[in-house]
Amino acid sequence: MEKLANLVMLCLLIFCKFSNANQEIYLHRLFKSRISQNFPVSDYWENLHEIRESSRVYAAPQDGLMQADKIEKLPGQPDGVDFDQYAGYVTVDPQAGRALFYYFVESPENSSTNPLVLWLNGGPGCSSFGYGAMEELGPFRVNSDGRTLFRNNYAWNKVANVIFLESPAGVGFSYSNTPSDYYNAGDTSTANDTYTFLINWLERFPQYKTRNFYITGESYAGHYAPQLAYTILLNNKNPNRTVINLKGISIGNAYIDDWTISPGYYDYFWSHAMNSDETHKGIFTFCNFENGTESDKCNNFIHKAYNEMGVIDTSNIYAPQCQNPVLKNESSGSVSPFYLLLTLPDFFFPSLCYSLIDLIRLTSLIPAWIHTCNIT
Ligand SMILES: *[C@@H]1O[C@H](CO)[C@@H](O)[C@H](O)[C@H]1NC(C)=O
Ligand SMILES: *[C@@H]1O[C@H](CO)[C@@H](O)[C@H](O)[C@H]1NC(C)=O
Ligand SMILES: *[C@@H]1O[C@H](CO)[C@@H](O)[C@H](O)[C@H]1NC(C)=O
Ligand SMILES: *[C@@H]1O[C@H](CO)[C@@H](O)[C@H](O)[C@H]1NC(C)=O
Ligand SMILES: *[C@@H]1O[C@H](CO)[C@@H](O)[C@H](O)[C@H]1NC(C)=O
Repeated sequence: MEKLANLVMLCLLIFCKFSNANQEIYLHRLFKSRISQNFPVSDYWENLHEIRESSRVYAAPQDGLMQADKIEKLPGQPDGVDFDQYAGYVTVDPQAGRALFYYFVESPENSSTNPLVLWLNGGPGCSSFGYGAMEELGPFRVNSDGRTLFRNNYAWNKVANVIFLESPAGVGFSYSNTPSDYYNAGDTSTANDTYTFLINWLERFPQYKTRNFYITGESYAGHYAPQLAYTILLNNKNPNRTVINLKGISIGNAYIDDWTISPGYYDYFWSHAMNSDETHKGIFTFCNFENGTESDKCNNFIHKAYNEMGVIDTSNIYAPQCQNPVLKNESSGSVSPFYLLLTLPDFFFPSLCYSLIDLIRLTSLIPAWIHTCNIT
């Protein structure tokens, strides 16, 4: 508890250190007024069995909606964009008024044969549009003016047609008109909704119905991706359904559970010269990741690990730091103070990670500050 209090204090200090505090406070209020305070919880994996191949799946006619979703031009996009972009809502539950937002980018070349890839950011609570599309693998990145875009040389749409889905409802632009949906969301309902999204999306974009399909994501998508794959394979057995041609899944920095991700962090810190041999050894001698880490010796070594590492973006350790507010256009530097908080492993401050999500969303409006929210 004391550690938690210290961290909250640190968080507040860092928060206040930045300039434009008033703007931040107002944005923070705006976000708080719009988003759920209760983020989706990890269900037990076994709960997935509540999804049945025989369950009814909501499917609505989608005629004409593909054309309606076509993006002529994103604000601030550079000249010479040679691929098609779409964005819009797919209703997954008309009674509740629940709809998921997607941004879809086709390949400039070979779009009609390249695979279809779904990208899911984690969190839970991270926006696939704000992070995945605009700061990670999308076709554009945001210039430091916060208004214009530049092309991302490493965009995945060079080799695939990529759907960035905001999931579950309550994340990014996805919403529900039934507020209790935000409180009741969990892994099972997320998999179910994402499956319903796909079935309807494929009606809207029927040319993709038989295309090779991959589920990809990071962090908490360590839950979303395999659980969606399970749901698809289950439903594919039902002859009344569109068969989704699922070929594979891929997850970066996968959060499956605390006791596998935590040792992974410390191995990574050590193998990338951010931690000493002594600290690494101490952690693996005194911390019991499987059954909790409540010993003082363990906690001391964990503090050492973070002190040795210093203020660095652990998700992008070779990038230049860019705390300077006068950032250059097309810069790809990394911002770190928040990272110190965000990359703390879940087991260490379990509740804090979730309550930080609105703070993270706030920072996502200022793209130069932070480029992801990889908090498992
Ligand atoms: C498929 O649809 C038919 C007709 O609506 C129905 O009788 C049958 O039970 C359905 N099959 C499954 C596996 O849901
Ligand atoms: C999944 O969604 C369908 C409607 O599309 C619903 O009937 C079913 O109860 C849901 N299943 C679970 C486990 O949430
Ligand atoms: C498009 O497909 C052709 C034929 O398979 C291939 O030669 C070419 O390299 C592909 N282009 C890209 C950008 O992958
Ligand atoms: C970034 O580039 C855009 C487009 O070239 C330009 O309009 C904008 O003024 C530049 N911003 C900065 C901070 O240099
Ligand atoms: C964790 O606790 C379980 C049950 O108490 C025990 O069987 C297991 O050996 C423990 N694991 C470690 C690494 O101590």
